Amino acid sequence: MILPIYNCFNPILRQKATDIKDIDKSTVDFINNMIETMYNADGIGLAANQVGDSRSIIIVDNTNDEESKAKPIVMINPKILSFSQEESDYKEGCLSIPKYYEIVSRPSEIEIEYLDINGKLNKISTGDLFARVIQHEVDHLNGILFFDKITPLKKALSKSKLRKIEFNKVIPHYDMLSADNRLIKGEED
Ligand code: NI
Repeated sequence: MILPIYNCFNPILRQKATDIKDIDKSTVDFINNMIETMYNADGIGLAANQVGDSRSIIIVDNTNDEESKAKPIVMINPKILSFSQEESDYKEGCLSIPKYYEIVSRPSEIEIEYLDINGKLNKISTGDLFARVIQHEVDHLNGILFFDKITPLKKALSKSKLRKIEFNKVIPHYDMLSADNRLIKGEED
């Protein structure tokens, strides 16, 4: 089932996620809905609070592995254990912030621990776009949005654009839930 994606100005995007204790059938069903929703919106990552759920779950397209395209990595209760000193810049976007892109600096490599869908603990080190998307999604679970990380000057320059997004003047091709919980139907360009 495709779920509406919450606008970044909806308060749930500022809440911290809670760790999952049991990966039961409802959790697995919900994760399948997240996957369907992310691909419908042409995303490469999605956090549970972006579809209105405060459980600690992210899904990330494994962009480092062409073979596993369209089969995202599911990370439950993800924790970033370490970050590299070295940082890199990349123009990011976010399904909760439609049609808005800014360059964000982030550590190039990370070490992360998470439970997979079978409840098995995994620990991996990774870099490139995969590491960036994981950091972006883990930020969501902590109530952090990518525009929190841009310079104050850039943020000031983005003010009118972000206001348009807040008041649903920017409509993506997928359905969204507005800041005040109204369903805004998606529109093709
Ligand atoms: Ni995002």
